[in-house]
Amino acid sequence: MPETTSPANASATQEARITAALGARSVVLVGMMGAGKSTIGRRLSLRLGMPFLDADAEIEAAAGMSIPDIFESRGEPDFRDGEARVIARLLDSGPAVLATGGGAFMRKETRDRIRDKAVSIWLKVDADIIMRRVKRRSDRPLLQTADPEATVGRLISEREPVYRQADLTIASRDVPHEKIVEECIEALHGLLCRGGAKETNDRIGVTP
Ligand code: S3P
Repeated sequence: MPETTSPANASATQEARITAALGARSVVLVGMMGAGKSTIGRRLSLRLGMPFLDADAEIEAAAGMSIPDIFESRGEPDFRDGEARVIARLLDSGPAVLATGGGAFMRKETRDRIRDKAVSIWLKVDADIIMRRVKRRSDRPLLQTADPEATVGRLISEREPVYRQADLTIASRDVPHEKIVEECIEALHGLLCRGGAKETNDRIGVTP
C-alpha cells in the first residue's frame, strides 16, 4: 500500500521534530500580563507532549501566599528575587513549557538562564487588549495605581525592547487560542527544524 500522510500525521511529525530538536531545552513564554502566556502555554504543552509549568503559581506555592500578598508583605524586590530563584529551579527541572510572569524576563540573570536552557517566545500584545483582559481583576499588584492604563503604557515602553530579545515573537490577539498555538508551533518548527524564524514572523506581520 502506498504511504500517505494525513494532515493530522503531518502535524504530529512537526511536533515530534520540535521536541527532538529541543532536546533538554524548555519552551519559555514571556510578555506582558494579559498576553495569554498561561492559557497558550498550557495548550502548547499538550500539543508538544511536554509538562506545563506556571512560574507565578510555583512562586505562590513556594511562598505559601498569593502574589498580591507577597507584594504587600515583602515588597516587589523580594518578589523579584524569589521569582528569579523559582525560574532557575524550573529551568533545571527538565524540559517543559514554562509561562513566566510579565516582569521575569526583565532580569538579565533570568534572560541569560532562559537563553542557555530554553527557546523563548514573546507573546506580544497591545495595550487595549491588556486593559480589556485585566480589567475588573485585582490580582495584578502593579496595576493597583490611580491610572492603570498609563501604568500599562509605561510598562510596555520599558519592557518591549527587552521582550524583543526573545527567540521568537508571536502576536497575541483576539483570535481562537488554537490559532496562536498553531503559530507558536510553526515558529518553533521554523527556528529549530528549518533554521530560521524570520519567515514565520514576516508571515504573521510581526517585526522581529
Ligand atoms: C507581573 C506580572 C504577573 C505577576 C506579578 C508581576 C509583572 O504575572 O508575576 O503580578 O511585573 O508584569 P502575569 O504576567 O502572569 O500576569
